[in-house]
Amino acid sequence: MEIRPITKYQATIGAPPDKSITHRALMFNAIARGRAVINNALTGNDCMSTVECMRRLGAEIIIGGDGRITVTGADLWRRKSSGRREAVMLDAGNSGTTMRLTAGALAGTDGTYIIDGDASLRTRPMRRITEPLGRMGADIASDNGRAPLKVTGAPLKAIEYDCPVASAQVKSAVLLAGLQADGVTVFREPVKSRDHTERMLSKMGAAISVDENAVRVARSDLTPVDVTVCGDISGAAYPLVLAASVPGSRVTVKNTGINPTRSGILDILERCGARICYDNETVGGAEPSADITLEFGALKPFVAEGEIIPRIIDEIPALAVLACFIEGESVVRDAAELKVKESDRILTVTSMLRALGADITPTQDGMVIRGKGFLEGGGVVDAGLDHRIAMSAAIAMAASRRGGTLIGGEICAVSYPGFFREVLSL
Ligand code: S3P
Repeated sequence: MEIRPITKYQATIGAPPDKSITHRALMFNAIARGRAVINNALTGNDCMSTVECMRRLGAEIIIGGDGRITVTGADLWRRKSSGRREAVMLDAGNSGTTMRLTAGALAGTDGTYIIDGDASLRTRPMRRITEPLGRMGADIASDNGRAPLKVTGAPLKAIEYDCPVASAQVKSAVLLAGLQADGVTVFREPVKSRDHTERMLSKMGAAISVDENAVRVARSDLTPVDVTVCGDISGAAYPLVLAASVPGSRVTVKNTGINPTRSGILDILERCGARICYDNETVGGAEPSADITLEFGALKPFVAEGEIIPRIIDEIPALAVLACFIEGESVVRDAAELKVKESDRILTVTSMLRALGADITPTQDGMVIRGKGFLEGGGVVDAGLDHRIAMSAAIAMAASRRGGTLIGGEICAVSYPGFFREVLSL
């Protein structure tokens, strides 16, 4: 796919529906007993992996037009397997969220399941969930800490867990297991990760309480809840960075989620001096959202480290693109988690930007980008199985002097099926 340079970027678009929230709305309602409607659900490939897994587990899921999905739950935590012995096969595709949350959801049930995924997901670390779930009494076998996972439901007991990494997927897996366990499970994390699970479980009547970086849960049934999903700030990041990189640009991304545990990219853009305004702020259901408008202006370089990292973790590839268009040295550190995403993003961001003429050095836990205020472009980038590398490369090429050639761009359907049409009019 050839991506040509653009001279200025002026657009009003809707962000794609939030991937993290859609996964949770599908899965938690599939666990519950009763019916719920999800409006503006993301129907990208990752969320469809969750749909297929939940259907195999007995939920009835009807996908209507316009992102309306009806879920009739399987009452998963009370159902008996009626002596069935063969394992239920679940395919999580490219989706770490599907695999890790499903493992937690099934840990205390009556049945045996094998959860597998694609070549990218099979390389990603699963010990971070098998270890705490194992301490709760779960029986989960893995291939040396990787997928496929074999989960055999077992009685669970509560634990107090100090998680070494800030990870919403680990947190969610432990909380879902905690809802099936005897006693009160306490999960603490070093820095607060996205809190969509806590917000939604609380709406569903779960016994859950949050105190800064600690979450407590006790055995609960889930009541179905209708959810209207807001736009995904991780998808909105691409048009926002494109407008911030190309002189004369102005973009509005409507109805974008601005949950503080996700909105670090907006803080960084503002710190760099970007002109951003927020209209139509609302709290629909449990999640805040707004229309975000950004106008091009000269920016200063940034340092991203510490507490902000979990709040920008999926946006770092896009921020690395932005750094190339800012004169001076921008730095990302404390972000070793980048190595275990859909690709090793320290390496794939570096090679993607180098192919387009950037001066970037990878480090143990991040990267240093010496921005020149422009990117030459003209190179070829293969996105592999990483949707965020595909979309970051596409905006980098569009904002560059010579454009570029993108291989494997179709992987963006994982989180943003309309990306090329809606963002780049291709
Ligand atoms: C997600 C959590 C994050 C994020 C991923 C989605 C979620 O992963 O990178 O894209 O929906 O919980 P970690 O929990 O591994 O940090």
